[in-house]
Amino acid sequence: MAAFSTSSSRPYHIIIFGASGFTGQFVVEEVARTASEGPKGSLKWAVAGRNRAKLEKVVEQAAGTLSKPELKSEVDILVADVSDLDSLAVMCKQAVIVLSCVGPYRFFGDPVVKSCVENGAHCIDISGEPQFLESMQLNYHDQAAGNGVYIVGSCGFDSIPADMGVIYTRDQFKGTLTAVESFLTASAGPEGGCIHDGTWQSAIYGLADSNKLRSLRKKFGHKPLPVVGPKIKRRGTLFYSNELQQYAIPFMGTDPSVVKRTQRYLTEELNESPVQYGAYVGVGGISNIFKLVFAGLMFFFFVKFSFGRNLLIKVKHTVSSCESYAIFNAKTLEGSSFRFIFLGEGYTEGSDPSEGKPNGKIRTLVKGPEVGYVATPIAMVQAALTMLNESDSLPNTGGVYTPGATFAKTTLIDRLNKHGIQFSLFPPEVQ
Ligand SMILES: NC(=O)c1ccc[n+]([C@@H]2O[C@H](COP(=O)([O-])OP(=O)(O)OC[C@H]3O[C@@H](n4cnc5c(N)ncnc54)[C@H](OP(=O)(O)O)[C@@H]3O)[C@@H](O)[C@H]2O)c1
Repeated sequence: MAAFSTSSSRPYHIIIFGASGFTGQFVVEEVARTASEGPKGSLKWAVAGRNRAKLEKVVEQAAGTLSKPELKSEVDILVADVSDLDSLAVMCKQAVIVLSCVGPYRFFGDPVVKSCVENGAHCIDISGEPQFLESMQLNYHDQAAGNGVYIVGSCGFDSIPADMGVIYTRDQFKGTLTAVESFLTASAGPEGGCIHDGTWQSAIYGLADSNKLRSLRKKFGHKPLPVVGPKIKRRGTLFYSNELQQYAIPFMGTDPSVVKRTQRYLTEELNESPVQYGAYVGVGGISNIFKLVFAGLMFFFFVKFSFGRNLLIKVKHTVSSCESYAIFNAKTLEGSSFRFIFLGEGYTEGSDPSEGKPNGKIRTLVKGPEVGYVATPIAMVQAALTMLNESDSLPNTGGVYTPGATFAKTTLIDRLNKHGIQFSLFPPEVQ
């Protein structure tokens, strides 16, 4: 059983660190909305950040939006700054779980993880930065395991739908699933989409540093994962997807690396059969391709230089209008959504995966609301509630884990289904 107690003497089940951030504010609302799902039907929680006045405003705002005036007196405020390690330690000692919303994580994430590990708080973040996520595993896994602490990164849209989607597909398949491809489409509502500063900067610096990932990965000294069934075929850089009925490209985000880490854990620690994974994203019709190629080339060029990165950050300020949480909240979220189609193949029950071609296929679907500021808070908060309520179903020891490794044996998918991130089989006629 995990070294984890929900009847902890700590004053708070959850502390939302970075609650004043753009995403943090939505996480605060989501925690307030679902507090009755905490252990024994209630949740003790607080908000934290470096500016008390901003935090007070956030709580006030959530109280107004949710018509819960009691939040103003019930929710405590803690002041903590990433650059003040003592303040982090004081915060971490008071929480069972810290929900870390302070990003870009490559700049601010490490001291938070370190303090959680040292002070016995579990930590859940919404990083979409593989370099940060994998360095945390390299640097803190053993210490976290020794201290019985769970550090679970990428619990937002990156990468809960993809990571849990592969596990869902595998669990629904009657036999041995050997490979899955996912096809993502996201649509904006009538008011268009939006990406906020912290998220935008995380993407820019993530891509700028992507070449450092290879050397980081060598340090793990992993053996290649065994391949069961035929090796998955990679599709082209740009192809017409019959699954999506539009053009598609390989997905450049965090999902493939997170899914691979999960599959490694399930294979090496739990002796399960590994699933190979390929991720693609729809880009629309032919007219979009020219825009995409142009924008992509510009982006790749600019992120390589510091003047280019600064320019991209400034350009975003000029063209995007999601500065105001209130305006964004009301207008932009409605009508935005995402959809992942998972296409799996494998060997049906009774057939031997070491012989012949795969003889079974499966299609599943994961769909949900706007990715960054609706689906992400839902995923993060449900991950935390699962951790609090189902401690016996977590990995046997603490450590730095992916969402799939942490929650494969829990009811996280059922919880997400209830909150609008829906996992389902495709109707049988299109299987
Ligand atoms: N996985 C996903 O799909 C997903 C979705 C959305 C966001 N994210 C990630 O979430 C992170 C936050 O994004 P965002 O757009 O919400 O950023 P943001 O609005 O800039 O918020 C950043 C937060 O960090 C706080 N902060 C900055 N420096 C700090 C310090 N020294 N000590 C304590 N707090 C500090 C800020 O506090 P102040 O308010 O005091 O400035 C603010 O609360 C990014 O890394 C982004 O990539 C991921």
